[in-house]
Formats: sequence, C-alpha cells, structure tokens
Amino acid sequence: MPPELEERVMDYTKKKLSAKRFKHVERVVATIEEIAAARQLPVADCRMIGWLHDCAKEEPRNVFLSLVHRGLIYVDRETMEQPSLWHGFHAAHIGRKVFGIDNQALLEAVSYHPTGAPGLSAEGLALFVADYAEPGRPMAWTREIREQACQNLVAAAKRVCQEKIYYVLKKGKKLHSRSIDFLKSLSAEGETLPDFSGGHGKSGISDDPGEGTGRER
Ligand SMILES: [Fe+2]
Ligand SMILES: [Fe+2]
Repeated sequence: MPPELEERVMDYTKKKLSAKRFKHVERVVATIEEIAAARQLPVADCRMIGWLHDCAKEEPRNVFLSLVHRGLIYVDRETMEQPSLWHGFHAAHIGRKVFGIDNQALLEAVSYHPTGAPGLSAEGLALFVADYAEPGRPMAWTREIREQACQNLVAAAKRVCQEKIYYVLKKGKKLHSRSIDFLKSLSAEGETLPDFSGGHGKSGISDDPGEGTGRER
C-alpha cells in the first residue's frame, strides 16, 4: 500500500462527514489499530479501511441509487431494501474508483462492515468489531469486546454479531439474512443457535454512532 494512501483516504473522509461522525471514524481507526497489532494483521491496511468504512454515510441516497442503476455497484435485493446498509457498498466503490484499491478482501471488509458476511477476512472481522466496540459507543461492554478481540478475534466478532442481531430484533427491525449467515459461519459446528426467525419491520442493522447499537442491560 502506498504510504500516502492512508492520508488521502483520511482527508477525503474528513471532508465528507460531520465532525461528530468523523470522530467516530477516528476512534474506529485507533481501535482497529490496537486489534491489528495484537493479532498481527497488516496495520496500515487495517487503518486504511477504518478511514474508508463510513466515508459515504452522509451521501444522498440518490447518488448511491444512480451508481446502482448505472451498474457500477451491485447489491443484492435484500440489501436494496435496507438503505442503512448501502453506505458500506458505496464506500467500497469509492475505495476502488477514487483510490484505486483493488484488494478484494479489504473492499469486502468495507462493503460488509455493518452486517459482517461469511468468509470475511481477518481485516474484515477487525473492522466489524472495531466499528461496534470503539470507545465512544454507549454500550457498557465495549471495553470487554475490545480486549477479547485482541485475544480471540473470531470470538469477539461472534459476540458483536449476536449483540447486533438481538438489538435489531428487540427494536422490531428487519434482520438481514447475511447477519444470520455470518453468525452461523462463526459458530462452532453443531452449536445450537437462537431462533432469529421472528424479525420484521422496515429497517436493518444500523451502525450510526448517534443511534447506538446495543441493548440496555
Ligand atoms: Fe458504517
Ligand atoms: Fe462506523
């Protein structure tokens, strides 16, 4: 990765986001860096996807829709019905087109950061966890998850996935099937999973720092 790329992505994101959301991004970068160092992942790549992951979060929806209609971004039908998930795919597109990033594992990490996805790379797991557990989040258990991620990244990702699924169901929102598939992929074979079949509603998993993503307890 060219050394100036991280700075270019950071500058781009800073220009595109409100100050409050950019602070969330800064904390995600600091968190993913800690995890990457502990798990011996490529720190520069992890920092870069941290800067990139929410860069399209404040883009108007019609910009995304126009890219989809022009065939420049592909998303499955279920995702099309959940606008809160679009910004990951939009950010990956920006990574490709604006910054020339062609590492598929890193682009997928960005695309799927709100839900996770089966087959996600270690960098993708680190982003998924860091986005949820950065220290600005209101949930009481984020420190525990950050510490767990430095020891066992898969276990931490599984915990985050479960927390997000419970939150979505509790709010009566629609659960994306990718979240369930991700959880199944992280779970040991034969382990019984909770019954998540009752989810319904209009909106999916959100990772908006202003909304919070955890259940109270
Ligand atoms: Fe996000
Ligand atoms: Fe985020």
